[in-house]
Amino acid sequence: MPRVRVSPSHGLCRAMTAALLSLLACGESRRPRAPIGDDGWGPSLRGESFAAPEPAPPPAPRARPIPEEKRQPWAHAAVLDQLVDLRVRGASEHDDDRYERTLRVSPDQADAYRHLTQATVMPAGTVVVQRHHEPGQEAVAIRYAMVKEEGAPSAWQFVVLDETLRVAADAQLTLCARCHREAPFHGLFGIPASE
Ligand code: HEC
Repeated sequence: MPRVRVSPSHGLCRAMTAALLSLLACGESRRPRAPIGDDGWGPSLRGESFAAPEPAPPPAPRARPIPEEKRQPWAHAAVLDQLVDLRVRGASEHDDDRYERTLRVSPDQADAYRHLTQATVMPAGTVVVQRHHEPGQEAVAIRYAMVKEEGAPSAWQFVVLDETLRVAADAQLTLCARCHREAPFHGLFGIPASE
């Protein structure tokens, strides 16, 4: 096979030919490629939103677990015995759906809690405790509590209690408050209709 010597001018010539060919190609039959989603009336806006993107909330500080040896009994621990068990058991969304939940509420507010409406405002001092169980287990792994504070209808204090009713997370429970702010009944999600 005869060897072709590629001289600089030969290379230049090839590049020019290629450019010319591509110009010709789009000049006649090939139309410019339509943008993806273009249905003939301009680019389709399907799947796009006109709303300005919501600014992402700043990352909330994570609740820090209190080391076992430093945990203190919960100030309201005595109240726990007086709470009414609502006899509802169902899946909990807390902790990535890991647990089943049961619920206990201050006796005077049990009925109101069962039938929450927009008009329900829990009085200060109301305690709601959600107990988390491993699926199918009776033992309580962890308790999440809410205590109603004076002030706004949705002013709640959030607490995490371990198996021995000691406070297990420090006061930085910003994530609890942030999610419960979205709850339908002044900070409370209530009992889902299916339970
Ligand atoms: C991402 C959302 C979210 C976060 C974060 C969250 N919760 Fe909840 N919480 C729920 C939902 C949804 C329910 C309804 C039952 C369920 O799914 O567990 C609920 C129910 C409860 C209840 C029963 C009272 C009621 O009706 O709302 C208590 C008490 C509670 N949470 C305490 C806490 C505490 C304490 C924390 C923080 C350690 C916390 N929650 C963090 C979503 C959240």
